[in-house]
Amino acid sequence: MELEKIHCGDALKLVGHLPDESVDLIVCDGPYGVTDQDWDRIGDIQTYNLELLRTFSRVLKPGGAMYLFGKEDCIDFIDYRPYLKLNARIVWYQPSRLAQGRTNYTNNYDLICYFSKGKAKTFNLDDIRVPQLVELEHRLRCERVPSVQNGTYGKTRFNEAGKNPGDVWGDIKQLTYKSKELISRDLLNTIQKPERLIDRLVRASSNEGDLVLDPFSGVGTTWAVCRRLKRSFIGFEMNSEYIRIADERIAAIDRAAEYELFT
Ligand SMILES: C[S@@+](CC[C@H](N)C(=O)[O-])C[C@H]1O[C@@H](n2cnc3c(N)ncnc32)[C@H](O)[C@@H]1O
Repeated sequence: MELEKIHCGDALKLVGHLPDESVDLIVCDGPYGVTDQDWDRIGDIQTYNLELLRTFSRVLKPGGAMYLFGKEDCIDFIDYRPYLKLNARIVWYQPSRLAQGRTNYTNNYDLICYFSKGKAKTFNLDDIRVPQLVELEHRLRCERVPSVQNGTYGKTRFNEAGKNPGDVWGDIKQLTYKSKELISRDLLNTIQKPERLIDRLVRASSNEGDLVLDPFSGVGTTWAVCRRLKRSFIGFEMNSEYIRIADERIAAIDRAAEYELFT
């Protein structure tokens, strides 16, 4: 299958053309099963996600990673363990979500389930560090912190380059209608993800030259990030208009890179 391209069609069928264990990273931002969009009406989301995990795990290299996006219950009560190892459930926290519930606590996060095929071969922590809290800096100066493991007192290592982002990410905002990178208002909330979010996943779980698969490419956010980070890319998407937008997006990135090279 041709690389550096989004192939048009059903991801679950197209993936059959990829060889076993050929992909380093899968960014899977497909149906959530919560909206009225045709492509999001998939019946039982957990059954659907189990099928995705089973099908896509075949093409993942040993040690490769897969990130599955969804709502808080997206992998509840399903047994993914024969296929992949769950390393973390990342909470992508969006406190400024406007819709407000009246009968329950408003859901204000998405889940990004971080799987790997066996032990993850790549986790580039130094490429995704986030600023240390000032509070921690203060604590390190004036107190010694007991270890949670065995209670012994020792100095926590303070890394000037920043800390592990942890598994609750509140530092990356969902796009708004004012975001410069938003392609069109129609894509708000259900389609386009912020490049910063995908950038963190790609930096953490792949290296230059690795192959990244996005089976639900939308308007090509993962492709755009991969292009900038020098990862190889292959995508699937059923909506040809979104593929056209993604192609334009990549062409603009290439033009900007060429311009930079010659100035
Ligand atoms: C949440 S969006 C992905 C958005 C993408 N991350 C971006 O930033 O542009 C999900 C996409 O999956 C596509 N899609 C849904 N079911 C599909 C299927 N079975 N095969 C291929 N594409 C599908 C939809 O058309 C939609 O564009």
